[in-house]
This record gives sequence, structure tokens and C-alpha cells, in this order.
Amino acid sequence: MTVGFNFLEAPELPAPQVSDAQAEEILATHYGLRARATSLGSQQDKNFVVTVDGEIVGVLKIANPAFNATEIEAQDLAAEKIAEAEPLLRMAVPLPNIAGQKCTALTGLVDGTAYVRLLRFLPGGTLLDSGYLSPTVVAGLGEVAGRVSRALEGFRHPGLDRVLQWDLRYGTAVVAELISYVTDPLHRARVDATATEAWSRIAPLVDELPRQAVHLDLTDANVVVARRADSSPEPDGVIDFGDLTDSWAVSELAITASSVLGHPGSEPISILPAVRAFHAIRPLTTAEVDALWPLLVLRTVVLIVSGAQQASLDPDNPYLTAQSGGEWRMFEQATSVPIDVMTEVIRADLGLAARPDPVAGSLIDVDPTSVVTLDLATTSDVYDSAFENDGSLEAGVEDGLARAAAQDGARLVVTQYGQPRLSRTPKLSQESPNVVATGISIWPSAPTRLAAPWDGEVIADDDLTLRGVDFELTLSGVHAVASGRVNAGDPLADAPADAWVEVGVRPVGAPAAPLLTRSELAPGWLALTRDPRPLLGLPAVAVPDAGDLLSRRDASFAPVQEFYYRKPPQIERGKRHYLMSTAGRTYLDMVNNVTVLGHAHPRIADTAARQLRKLNTNSRFNYAAVVEFSERLAGMLPDPLDTVFLVNSGSEASDLAIRLATAATGRRDVVAVREAYHGWTYGTDAVSTSTADNPNALATRPDWVHTVESPNSFRGKYRGNEAVKYAGEAVQQISQLVADGRPPAAFICESVYGNAGGMALPDGYLQQVYAAVRAAGGLAISDEVQVGYGRLGEWFWGFMQQNAVPDIVAVAKSMGNGYPLGAVITSRAVADGFRTQGYFFSSTGGSPLSCAIGMTVLDVLRDERLQENAARVGAHLKARLQALQHKHPIIGTVHGIGLYLGVEMVRDAETLEPAPEETSAICDRMLELGVVIQPTGDHVNILKTKPPLCIDLEAADFYVDTLDRVLTEGW
Ligand SMILES: Cc1ncc(COP(=O)(O)O)c(C=O)c1O
Repeated sequence: MTVGFNFLEAPELPAPQVSDAQAEEILATHYGLRARATSLGSQQDKNFVVTVDGEIVGVLKIANPAFNATEIEAQDLAAEKIAEAEPLLRMAVPLPNIAGQKCTALTGLVDGTAYVRLLRFLPGGTLLDSGYLSPTVVAGLGEVAGRVSRALEGFRHPGLDRVLQWDLRYGTAVVAELISYVTDPLHRARVDATATEAWSRIAPLVDELPRQAVHLDLTDANVVVARRADSSPEPDGVIDFGDLTDSWAVSELAITASSVLGHPGSEPISILPAVRAFHAIRPLTTAEVDALWPLLVLRTVVLIVSGAQQASLDPDNPYLTAQSGGEWRMFEQATSVPIDVMTEVIRADLGLAARPDPVAGSLIDVDPTSVVTLDLATTSDVYDSAFENDGSLEAGVEDGLARAAAQDGARLVVTQYGQPRLSRTPKLSQESPNVVATGISIWPSAPTRLAAPWDGEVIADDDLTLRGVDFELTLSGVHAVASGRVNAGDPLADAPADAWVEVGVRPVGAPAAPLLTRSELAPGWLALTRDPRPLLGLPAVAVPDAGDLLSRRDASFAPVQEFYYRKPPQIERGKRHYLMSTAGRTYLDMVNNVTVLGHAHPRIADTAARQLRKLNTNSRFNYAAVVEFSERLAGMLPDPLDTVFLVNSGSEASDLAIRLATAATGRRDVVAVREAYHGWTYGTDAVSTSTADNPNALATRPDWVHTVESPNSFRGKYRGNEAVKYAGEAVQQISQLVADGRPPAAFICESVYGNAGGMALPDGYLQQVYAAVRAAGGLAISDEVQVGYGRLGEWFWGFMQQNAVPDIVAVAKSMGNGYPLGAVITSRAVADGFRTQGYFFSSTGGSPLSCAIGMTVLDVLRDERLQENAARVGAHLKARLQALQHKHPIIGTVHGIGLYLGVEMVRDAETLEPAPEETSAICDRMLELGVVIQPTGDHVNILKTKPPLCIDLEAADFYVDTLDRVLTEGW
């Protein structure tokens, strides 16, 4: 006999009807408040926001009269207990009325006694309208649930003794009671079958599930958030204890996690951070882990049937109609993956996966030495020449490889179980693709008879299934030669020659696996299938595990050499403007400015291989390549820049440029632009003041470095038309240096402002400053390391955009398409001036290999018209990004030209307050959706958009569409 409310006896629970005016009267009479009450949406109770002089002071809650005083007392005590035990959590505890009571009992307001409380208001809002929930926010939800669960363990009260429709112990009874409210018969049947299936997983576990007091509604609607600096939510508070009861502890987490699935962009695996966070605070038992996903599924069914019932009781309640779309989304997501698969995914994620034994039996009697195993992983060499011109893998690449192996004498070609196959990866996709094999494919080179590996029943339709006692074998692409019962060794099927046969093995009762699954679900499907290779007499292949590559990296590779992303994919291959991970995902590469021609360009690979087979030595020897390459470089620059030095990097090139200037002028002072980066060497670091690269940059300059204002026309000292004033100021500073007796050797500057995301310098800037430094006897250095070499589309060199000619040009990055290559090009007179500092030699700068690669890069740039492509695709990209700016106010502006663009993110269009945290979160979400992009700039708030120059319109659109999606759904 339950003491409190019993839903199963009183399933209709419309919210009490109380007006705002009545609520205001209660506040005045019982709380001494002259306040405004504004009705809030709620399913069972009646709630009002209470404001005094425009400030929210609390929430007035009139409990549904179906709940009694004992139940309400339990709720108030529970809130107080959690507040005490978990000081990090904010709690909606009750505030006393004028009689000092937490609860005001009123008669005459509703039928029976109305229990009224004024609850503490927790500012910050909930996650209900938050759009996409990032893994960090989802983890935050799980953490709140874990803390509440931990705090409520051991809390006992008679008011917990109730039967609530949200208590999943009664899930099937609730569904039975309410399912008739779901009017669409197809929906009703689906919902019913789902509840039955979920319960079939829960029922065997119920005796093992620990019970305790649970809040039971810690969802996106009842967890309150604090706002971080970037206004992103941080779950830290709890409201609404109306569903407090005694139930399975794990229900708390199941209900919290279910609410994640209502948000755009979420899918079953999105709940994992919440599960991990909960488990870290309140460890789950094995039975709880196994019950979690079925309970979550059941929860989504309960929400649907309850929503249908409430809508029919209270058809005008807009709160209910607004909710039902989200509830269906939750249900669709919860049922998008078989229950057992998600349970295995959760187990694996918590490190609790079982290691199944391999299968035994013989399907084909074949000499293992005549079997060839195909490696279709991202790292495999089989793909080296298998790409089409557009960067996609040739259709039928797997067939071609099998045919070739068979021609070489293989009796059987076999693929690998559990291997992510790059051969199945689409070029561009916001979804992670189905690439991980849950079985194997075999390709016999001659017709082959297959035998039953165990006793069992043959079921033949499109596929052939042999169901034994423990395992089920599925073959597709064969002709059955048996039916009914067979014994191990009996003929089973014939496989044709030169075609794939798919072989799958799973324990009897496991769901039928798709041939390929996503890497995120692979731990689930692989736990519910077996490697069929032992049936061919071959050893099972272990799915390779690189271990924790990042901690190994940090142990051996200086961690100050940071990596992109907190959880970066392991990238082991590239093609054109695509990067491929070992999980078989292809990403659009929007950051690799160095690989101008695109990744793994075959002409570069050929050049390197041919040259390495012939000669690689240094420029003290006499060979043609160094001459030809120097001639070509010099030929690409205006007079008098006719003399070339060859080095290995941008840092070396800029460093050498500075040394040439100091040698030629006999001076030591250098003028540089603030917020720029020129390299890591001692000299280039001295002239670099980008705080993104070195936070102490400005304060630690040596005395020979003099900086001028960064000519930022968007957010700098002078903006828009005023930006022309930067040049005048720089000229004045140079004159002052002369006046101080420290005339500069050089002025060094990027010809397009790279650190600001590719911003053009103000008109006339370089002409004026170059003139001033020359008038003072110094030299003008143009750092073209990032912006030169065709990226700007309209101009090959950045200084051309300014109609200025420098005295020294430093270039690198693009020159070698990723092979280390740099150059300094200057006049003969300046080059000769270096004699005063000795001679110049670089062991590998200008080597035959460097020069051969450098010339091939120039050939490909020309032959593939990549500068033209930069202009064409860049213009399209910029126009589309600018259009996006009108839609999303966070985009402050779009800098740049050609394929050097910067999307600058701001919190406020007026103040231009930078949005660095938002930019970082946007980059993380872009990665999830298949785009590699990173922030830049001193405020780290600019999406530095600088892909390989071979990028096409399709990929440019993919980038913009993905950014649009992220900015629309949230990050
Ligand atoms: C403008 C500029 N100059 C010089 C360098 C240094 O080039 P590297 O990294 O090849 O040494 C960089 C590198 O980012 C750069 O952006």
C-alpha cells in the first residue's frame, strides 16, 4: 500500500488552474511580498515566476493536489540535503513564508488542499533551448546527475513512497495505461514494440539494480546553468523536485541522458560524456551499465505516451505541443541503434568490454599460404595510386585489388574484420561514415565449395544463414547447396569465382549486423560479432590499437610543440584538400596552407623518388637543379631582385633576410610590425610580437627591435578609411629612429597581414613605409612566407597588391608543398653585402632534391592553374562567407582575398569584443562534422581559412554549409 500518490490509480493529472492574480494574492498574504506573478509552463504543477520591482525573487509552486504534504516535505528535505552535501551545486530550496514555514497549505484554492512553496530562483536558465549540446555540456549534465545521486544515497523519507509515471520501474504499466492516447496506429505499434524490447533487457536485471532516492527529472529542463565568459552553459543547479521518489539509482542517469537526444545534432553516442562523468562520481555497477540504455529507451516511450495523454487532457497547453517534437526526436534517436549495440558501446566506453573467445570450425579448406589478406586501412600502401583526380578513391578499388592479387596467384583474397576501410569513405560528409567491417569479405579465384563449420539449421533467403547452438553464420553472394539441418563438414554453399562473398558470424540472438558500421558504433557491433577468419584456418586479426598516442607523444616529443584539438583524430593520409583518419573518416582540410598543390601530389612524390635514386648532396657541388631553380625564382620577381639564397624554412628565410639587411647596411636596428610572426629562430623570434605565439612578446623585445602599430583596419587604433594613418605613424617612428641616431637596417613586414587572418594592408602602406626606410638608408623586407606563391589569386606575391617592390623577399612554406624549402631573393648588391659576415652555406638548402621539388611545385602551380583557382574559388568562398555574416551576428567580418581568408568572430558587432572561446568551440564542432579549421589572430577569434589551392567549389560550399549549420544549431 503506497502512502503517497499512485499514478496507476489516478492517471489523469491536469495542472491546477490558478490565475496570476490569485498567485499574487498568495504572495502578499503568506510571504509578505508585493510581487508580480507570471504563469510558467509545467506539466503537473502550477508555477509562477515571482518578480519584485522587475527582479526575479523566486518561483511560486502550487503542487498538484494529487500530491500530499509528506511527499512535498520529502522534496524540500532532499533539496536541502543535496545543497549541503554538494556545495558546488545550486539548489532550488524552499524559502520560508511569514510564519517561518517552507510549505503553505491552502484550502479553497483548488479541490482539496493546495501546497504552495516559494522556491529560490536560480538564474542562468536551463538547457531547454540550447540547441546543440557540446560534449562538455553533456558531461556537465552527467556530473550534476552523479552529484545528486551521490548526495541522495541513504536519504530516506515516507514521502518517497509513491508510484509515479516517470518511475521506470513502472514503465511498462505506464505504457499499457496510456498507449491508447497515441492515435496513429503505426506510431502506436512502434512505441509498444520498443517498450517491450527495452523491458526484456531490464527485467532480468531488476533484482541487481540498487535503489535509492532519485530526483528522476534531471533533464535539460530542470538542470540550471551558469554562463561561462563566452556565454556557453555550465550545468550547476537543480530545480523541480516534484518527481522525487525511491527507484533504481541508474534511472537518474538514464533520464538525464535521454534529454540530450532531444537536441539538434545529437545521436546515441552523444550521451557518452554524461555517462562517463556520472560514472566518475557515482560508479555504475555492471547491472546498471547493462540496464542504462534500455531504461533510456523506455524513458523515451514513457515521454511519448505521457505527452499524448497530456495533450488530450489539456489540448490548449502550448508547453505540451512544443515539447512533443523533441520527444519524437528522442525516441527516433534512442531507437536508431539496437539496444544491445548501444549497451556494448557504453561498456566499451567505460572500459568494461568483455573479450570474446574466437569461433572454431571450418568453412573453407584452403592452404593459408595461398591466401592474401588485403589491408584496406587508411595507412595501407594499396591506395597510393588509387585516387581519382578529384581526390576520391576509384570506384571498385577493392575489386581491382582482389583481381590483381588473384592474378598473382592468390587462391583466396580476404579482408580484415574490424578494420576501418578507407575504400568505403565518402569524400565529404558531415556524418561519420560506415566503414568498419563487422565481418570479412572473401574473393575466391576459382569456384569454391563452402562447408558448414558447425551443426545447425540452414535458412536461405537472399543471404544464407547457418544457425548453430552458439553462433550464426551469414553468407551473402553464394548459392546454397543445403537446406534444413546440416552437420559440421556438410556442403553448405558454392561461392563463384572472382566475386566477393560476405561472411559474418554472430552469437545466436545478437542483432543482424550491417556489413559496415561507423567507428563510433564499432565497439558495439564488434562485441556482438566474431572474426570469421578462424573459419578459413587463418588467425583472427587484432584490431590495431595505437595505445594512447597522445600520451606517448607527450612522453617523448616536447609538449610545447602543441597539437590541434583536445581529442584529435589520428591523421595518417592526405589527398588533395582532404585528410584521412585511421578511423576511416575523411576531413576537409581548410588549414594546410603549406601544401598548396594538395596532399600527396603524385608529381611531387615521383620527383622526390626519382631524385632520391640519383643524387642528393649540397650546393657546394656543381649540378643543374640549383641553377635552374634559382633562375626560375629570380625570373618570377621584379627588378632588381635577381639573386637567390636557398634555405629550408620560413624562419630561416626571414632570419637570413634580416642578416642580409644588417650586413648590407652595417646597422643592427630593425623595425617590425606589431602582432606579426616571422619565425622561431633567435632573430625572427626577436621581431615577432604576436601574442598568440608568445604572450610576453611585446615586453621582451631586445633593444634592436622597434615595433610600429599593427595596421589592423578592422579592430585596430585606426579603422576603415582612417586606416591610412598607420603608414604616417610608422614613417614618423622611422624618422625618430634616425633622429635618435639609430637608423634602421630594415623594415620587416608581411605584405598581407597574416596574423589578422589575411587582412589587406591599408592602401599605400608599403609604398610609404618602404620609401621612409630607404630614405633612412635601410632596406625593405617582405615576408611572403604565408601569403606569397599564388595564394592570393590575383597576385603571385603579396607586395604586388600594394604596388610596392621590396629589397629582400623571404619565402618558404608553399615552395616545397610540405617538403622543407625556403628562399631569400634580393638584389645582387645586397647579396654581395653578406661577404662582410663571412660566407653562406646551408647543408640541405638548395640540395638537388629541394630544387627538384621546388621546380615541380612551380610546374604544377602552372599546369593546374592553381593561382587562377585560388582567385575563382576564393571569390566564391568569400562571397558565401559574407552572405553568412548577414545571417549570423557572431561573424564580425570576413577578411582576405583568394584563398587566404579570415572569418573574424565577435560577441558584439559594436564593441567588436572578440569571441575566442566561441571560435574554439566552433572549430571543435566543425571537426565533428568533417572540417579541419583552426583559430588564429592575437585574440584567437579568426577562422584562418587557407586550404590547399586545389580546393574546388564543392568543398568550399561544404565548408560554408557546415559553418552555417554550426552557427545555426549551436556549438
Ligand atoms: C609570416 C611567417 N613568416 C615566417 C614563418 C616561419 O616559417 P617556418 O615555420 O617555415 O619556419 C611563418 C610560419 O608560420 C609565417 O607565418
